[in-house]
Amino acid sequence: MNNDINGPRQTRSLVGQIPEPDELYGREDFIDHLWRLIDGNNVLLLAPRRFGKSGVMRHVLLRPRAGFLPLSFELEDVDSPEEFVWRITRELLRHDTFKVLLRGAKRLPKAFGEWVKANFDEAEFEGAKIKFKENIKEDWREAAKRMLGELEKADKTIIFLFDEFPAMLDRLIEKQGEAVARDFLAWFRSVRLEQKDVLRRHRFIVAGSVGIDQILRKLGAADKLVDFARLTVEPLDEPTARRLASDLARSHSINCDDAILGRLFELIGAPVPYFIHIFISQIGQLPLAQRKDLTVADLERVYRERVLGPTCRHYFTHYSSRLQRYGKTGEKAALAVLRAVASQGRISRPALFDIYRKVRGRAAGDRAFDELMADLEYEWYLRLDSDTNEFYFRLRVMQDWWRRWYPAASAKGNTPQAQKP
Ligand SMILES: Nc1ncnc2c1ncn2[C@@H]1O[C@H](COP(=O)(O)OP(=O)(O)O)[C@@H](O)[C@H]1O
Ligand SMILES: [Mg+2]
Repeated sequence: MNNDINGPRQTRSLVGQIPEPDELYGREDFIDHLWRLIDGNNVLLLAPRRFGKSGVMRHVLLRPRAGFLPLSFELEDVDSPEEFVWRITRELLRHDTFKVLLRGAKRLPKAFGEWVKANFDEAEFEGAKIKFKENIKEDWREAAKRMLGELEKADKTIIFLFDEFPAMLDRLIEKQGEAVARDFLAWFRSVRLEQKDVLRRHRFIVAGSVGIDQILRKLGAADKLVDFARLTVEPLDEPTARRLASDLARSHSINCDDAILGRLFELIGAPVPYFIHIFISQIGQLPLAQRKDLTVADLERVYRERVLGPTCRHYFTHYSSRLQRYGKTGEKAALAVLRAVASQGRISRPALFDIYRKVRGRAAGDRAFDELMADLEYEWYLRLDSDTNEFYFRLRVMQDWWRRWYPAASAKGNTPQAQKP
């Protein structure tokens, strides 16, 4: 998407920022497909963190197809249903058409309608927000439902882009308790569906980096998002990844041939654009003379010392810190599993179950283990080789990173069990 007729422009180095539509490599078909789906479905964008969900959503936001009006919401720090409704209302009031619609709306609950009329122009102010949340505390469900109902009168179909939705659910659970999160999900389902299985007019594209299924399971709400079509953001295909890598290399004045690029992809393990960006930006920090004449040995050294080293550690830490979501012993067990696979390369399922049980205690059942392993597979840490029944790391760079920063417990044994007399 980034090549114009005059050839490629400078390719900006992105190590975590959301790519602009121009900067997306190789998502044309994916985005076409997404637009086809959105015609008749709500969509759940699934992928581990940093695989490219937000970039795709930004493309939808900034390049809408005819008849649609996308609105974007970053939900990570939303901690109550009132805050959620506030975010939506504030965004709507930024658009003149919706302002007019909402001001004229007859069916809004009284407190809410009055607020909209009185605070029409001060929606940006912190005071407006507090007043708003107080006003709708009791009847946010009805107020927000009717507001969304009013919007169906708009001449375009609104697409609500909800980024980091699972993080919001996590926060709701943490701050308000599971009942509130469950209630919110039930409400959310009721605004999407007119009657059972009949979609209303708006569309929702929901994305998140943490396993949404795990959260739904915990809430006993596995059925609450069944009307969503699931779409996975995959790594790039090989030619596109090569194009990205060589464009990036060019903008960093790095000379590298096919052999070097081949080795780079081997070291990463699968063409996830984030890791390509990180790797090349690290090579870009070598002295110019070395960049101009890059060798495979240079590349391997950058990989070992920089990509896996302290310089880049923070680019990966979310892959370990997200394990906290399993609770204290759950996290320990997940760490033990990942450490073991990282150091041994491949471990059979039964052997891993033993490692898991050592940490979780004898009572640990295989159901919890299976769920953990399913999450670790879904989140792109591990993969099961169904021929040999062995787990291994899906990305080489991840395995090397875990081995480097989470080495297997030493032979002397410093695990809690080993310390017991
Ligand atoms: N299509 C793409 N082309 C080039 N780089 C990408 C692409 N998608 C993602 N990236 C890289 O991945 C990083 C994270 O992308 P983002 O869309 O924010 O992922 P997510 O929302 O899944 O965490 C970006 O900073 C960029 O380095
Ligand atoms: Mg994102």
